[in-house]
Amino acid sequence: MAPSAQPDDAKSSLPSNPDHLKFKRQIEIEGPNSTAKDPHYLPTWNPTQKYPPLEPFEYVERGKDADPSFKDLLLEGSTLEDITPSMGSEIHGVQLSKLTNAGKDQLALLVAQRKVVAFRDQDFTELPIKQALDFGGYFGRHHIHPTSGSPEGYPEMHIVHRGPHDTTFDTLFENRLTSTSWHSDVSNEKQPPGITFLYALETPKVGGDTGFANLAEAYNRLSPAIKERLHGLEAVHSGFEQAEGSRKKGGVVRREPVASVHPLVRTHPATGEKALFVNTGFTRNIVGLKKEESDALLKFLLDHISNGGDFQARVSWKPRTVVVWDNRVTSHTALLDWSSAASRRHLARITPQAEQPYETPYVK
Ligand code: SIN
Repeated sequence: MAPSAQPDDAKSSLPSNPDHLKFKRQIEIEGPNSTAKDPHYLPTWNPTQKYPPLEPFEYVERGKDADPSFKDLLLEGSTLEDITPSMGSEIHGVQLSKLTNAGKDQLALLVAQRKVVAFRDQDFTELPIKQALDFGGYFGRHHIHPTSGSPEGYPEMHIVHRGPHDTTFDTLFENRLTSTSWHSDVSNEKQPPGITFLYALETPKVGGDTGFANLAEAYNRLSPAIKERLHGLEAVHSGFEQAEGSRKKGGVVRREPVASVHPLVRTHPATGEKALFVNTGFTRNIVGLKKEESDALLKFLLDHISNGGDFQARVSWKPRTVVVWDNRVTSHTALLDWSSAASRRHLARITPQAEQPYETPYVK
């Protein structure tokens, strides 16, 4: 099945440039009149930065034995409001960076249950970048993105950036009807990410929300007959197209891409919930099916996820917001609906890797 878009490529848009072997810094591209509020977080692209293939690592699931009362997370005075009944919550009055390990474990469990949680009034942007990374590192090994830009010296930090004069997505709609591009981050890796943090540096006043889909609920909605049939099937998730897209634009490829085979239905290690694990960004075909069969089944599943407005949530960005989601049970999409001429959208992502996806038997 042809990929509809390359999700992570669409983020730190590096203009095509024949000079592609040069080390590029967004701050130099913008020049002395740059209006960036957090210039130390602007992306840089270093073509000599090369990383070896990822080795397996032993993942520790922090949510598994967490106290489900959330007493070390939802401290006195804090408030939690749900964004939709089945997914998404917004929390005020909790400072993530101050959580104890018990609080962090409960965070992992809460995010696994609610799928995406927005924390307002956070201090991440004021911390040294290393401290923010250390916080995220509690949840798994940092993933270094193969094609994204990162703050100089911090390759583990994935930067999502559209500058105020970036017109690349004004032209996007010349060839595309929508910017919607559902994906689970780097699901092509053998051990794709779990709990993931994205925090706002600068955002448009209105627009630029992120949409999330609840893939556990997408699974639950299926009829028993279809659920049973999906169990045991596996799909290929590929990062080759993303790397190729970056090379064509003169961007970096910091690690050679891989493709991995993952179950179509995966089980969450903390909640035991099953979730559909397919996404438009990386899932290419279903193993063992003929092309037309694989294309039809994948199209059915991907359409089901993208049409499921009643198992999706939309999170709006405000300065000092940290959004935490679980990539194992969600897919998400940036919504490019603001005028790039007016605003900068600048976010930083910490992407700890998790377990190799596994499935448990179908239960009637
Ligand atoms: C991401 O895909 O990690 C970023 C989503 C966004 O830009 O809203």
